[in-house]
Amino acid sequence: MIWEYWQHLTTPTAIVLAKEMGFLKESIALASRAKRCKATWNPHYQNCQASIVQAVQRSVGRRSVLIFGAGSLRDIPLAYLAQQFHQVILVDLVFLKSARAQAQSFDNVVLIEHDVTESLQGFYTQQTHVEQPQAWLNDASIDLVISLNLITQLPLIPVRWLLSHGALTELQADKLAKKIIYGHLHYLKQFAGEVCLIADEYGVEYDKAGKETDKVDPWWGIEPPKAVQNWSWELMPLGEQTTQIRQVNHVGVTFF
Ligand SMILES: C[S@@+](CC[C@H](N)C(=O)[O-])C[C@H]1O[C@@H](n2cnc3c(N)ncnc32)[C@H](O)[C@@H]1O
Repeated sequence: MIWEYWQHLTTPTAIVLAKEMGFLKESIALASRAKRCKATWNPHYQNCQASIVQAVQRSVGRRSVLIFGAGSLRDIPLAYLAQQFHQVILVDLVFLKSARAQAQSFDNVVLIEHDVTESLQGFYTQQTHVEQPQAWLNDASIDLVISLNLITQLPLIPVRWLLSHGALTELQADKLAKKIIYGHLHYLKQFAGEVCLIADEYGVEYDKAGKETDKVDPWWGIEPPKAVQNWSWELMPLGEQTTQIRQVNHVGVTFF
């Protein structure tokens, strides 16, 4: 708890609403969970890194690589990217100090705090309009774009925020979440370079005996794009949240 409190107090946030809406708290909680669940999360991180290496091999150019949802950087082969590309642009709403320190070791790696939905400022003031993101679309040097364990996360905090402020009904929340996800997909498809999407496809909950008890749809009913590669990620091992239920997510990789 002390570590979490200290991070919250000392992490600089260029985007003020990232702290107020709860994104910073969520990133800190995720970092703590990653430490606790190291044994089951590391294979997922290794799979992500291997998929990024594959995406690099598919990419024709080596000028700039743009990563959305860089977060902790644990799922990024950073040294490899820094060696392969002229510039590595890592984008997230918040970066904890560990990510900042790691990025600082490379001259050609930049961290950019940016809202990839370009809609959060509106959500913060309880508007529900979803913008069509534009950032970097005019940058001809972007040869590779990676959306990294991000797309299914995009609606979560905005929907929770708007519901808690009485700015949405449940039905409107569902529509808004879908619009945010479609908006990100549409955004990715507009880049001229190679694009790689790494995302949860679905989650399955099991009881202690290994019997399936529930299925989780992080895509809010949208059909995820067809993945060319998949793996299982034990997101919530037994004992992490409860001693009765574990959750395994199925992650997919798509190239556009
Ligand atoms: C599941 S985490 C994945 C992060 C990183 N790839 C990792 O595994 O540590 C999702 C990330 O998306 C970021 N995020 C959520 N909404 C965002 C937005 N609107 N713009 C930019 N980043 C956002 C969060 O801050 C978080 O770091």
